[in-house]
Amino acid sequence: MTNWPVHGAIDGPIVMIGFGSIGKGTLPLIERHFTFDKKRLTIVDPDDTDIAIAKHHGAKFLKVAITRENYREVLRPLLTAGGGRAFCVNLSVDTSSLAIMEFCREIGALYIDTVVEPWPGFYFDRTLGPETRSNYALRETVLAARRANPGGSTAVSCCGANPGMVSWFVKQALVNLAADLGDLEPEPKTRAEWGRLAQRLGVKGVHIAERDTQRAKSPKPMQVFVNTWSVEGFLSEGMQPAELGWGTHEKWKPDNAGGHLNGCGAAIYLNQPGANTRVRSWCPTPGPQYGFLVTHNESISIADYLTVRDAGGEVVYRPTCHYAYHPANDAVLSLHELFGQAGRMQERQHILGEAEILDGIDELGVLLYGHGKNAYWYGSQLSVEETRRIAPYQNATGLQVTSAVLAGMVWALENPDRGIVEADELDYRRCLEVQAPYLGPVTGAYTDWTPLVDRPGFFPEDIDESDPWQFRNILVR
Ligand SMILES: NC(=O)c1ccc[n+]([C@@H]2O[C@H](COP(=O)([O-])OP(=O)(O)OC[C@H]3O[C@@H](n4cnc5c(N)ncnc54)[C@H](O)[C@@H]3O)[C@@H](O)[C@H]2O)c1
Repeated sequence: MTNWPVHGAIDGPIVMIGFGSIGKGTLPLIERHFTFDKKRLTIVDPDDTDIAIAKHHGAKFLKVAITRENYREVLRPLLTAGGGRAFCVNLSVDTSSLAIMEFCREIGALYIDTVVEPWPGFYFDRTLGPETRSNYALRETVLAARRANPGGSTAVSCCGANPGMVSWFVKQALVNLAADLGDLEPEPKTRAEWGRLAQRLGVKGVHIAERDTQRAKSPKPMQVFVNTWSVEGFLSEGMQPAELGWGTHEKWKPDNAGGHLNGCGAAIYLNQPGANTRVRSWCPTPGPQYGFLVTHNESISIADYLTVRDAGGEVVYRPTCHYAYHPANDAVLSLHELFGQAGRMQERQHILGEAEILDGIDELGVLLYGHGKNAYWYGSQLSVEETRRIAPYQNATGLQVTSAVLAGMVWALENPDRGIVEADELDYRRCLEVQAPYLGPVTGAYTDWTPLVDRPGFFPEDIDESDPWQFRNILVR
């Protein structure tokens, strides 16, 4: 496509915080799909390795680390100079999403991020218990800010591929499933109606089921953590406790599970790192596979969004929801090496650029299971080859994220005064329409696989044969 659609105009300054793998990929999409004054786009990052790319696109580069102490002082002039409504696009690590989001709302700027990121130190603070180091706790800080200050300038929280786009896939998958199961009710319009649809269809749970088959041209060296996106981001979330939205159909809980006394109550955590927690899942390309149950915001937000309560406020339905992530093979090897040395991080980190990748796809979708047609996967199968053709500076994993940032920005511009929102609350059709040119084939596939297929094998197993879709059968123990 050369005639890229222009989705809107940004009439104030644009500030991009963080120019790593996602920032670099997002910049050309902003350039393609919005009209704005290029002289008013500033990138803020303490690492200026890729300053030439920024300059090539006419952006200013400020080599500064945003910190707890300086964020207001650094961002205020950038976001207020020259008038118009500013847009802050936060794609960094080690900055507090909440602090920056609240500041943007204070000065009337639009805001988007892809994760609820804390200030540095949080993820690896040994004095904090697992409950405090959870994504549940991070998400609750954003929900509390929304309750304290409803409405106002739109701030889209957690709008990448996952969290982000997968919440839109869940809705599309529910609509497809409803049609295939002969459900005749009109498409849901409210959160309560979406929950009732999932309940009516008998959806017991949702895996964010991903297989990244992108292969590096050179094999992974020892003591280098290799990934297709932020190694720092992956390690941070991977060393948090495994977390999952906890469904009402579950009859068994792991002994090391913990719950939360406050907040939405939609999720539990396990007292073990997510990147060392395996689950059984399914994607179209590999079929059955192991994935890592790494904590993610969407595991909690989707389960919370689809929760159905009775008139007295008691929960009557909620799907289990969690990530089942098979990262690129090199990342699997990197995790194996890391946990083999008791979680000691490798000396070096490396994000595979698109030129270093031989071939492969990022197959990222949602697996809705436990309903009348067993299980249904719906998602994107984007290849690195197609990515190279359609967008610069990124691999397939990156483009799924950056195109979701683009979609979230379009939605925010079209809905500028909606306060703090999560991806689940955006118009899924509009967002997927914006993303469509960047997702490769977007397909749905039914499977008759369940986590009990071919089990038990040679050895006895603790399984629940009365219901294949129990977490007891899904968790690898
Ligand atoms: N929701 C999703 O689907 C999704 C997917 C991928 C990444 N992410 C998130 O997006 C963020 C960026 O990912 P990435 O792959 O680009 O990571 P990256 O490691 O490639 O880049 C992060 C950038 O942030 C910069 N940075 C570090 N400290 C900073 C500070 N104090 N102020 C400003 N910039 C700072 C770094 O120098 C780096 O350039 C991460 O938080 C990651 O978890 C979300």
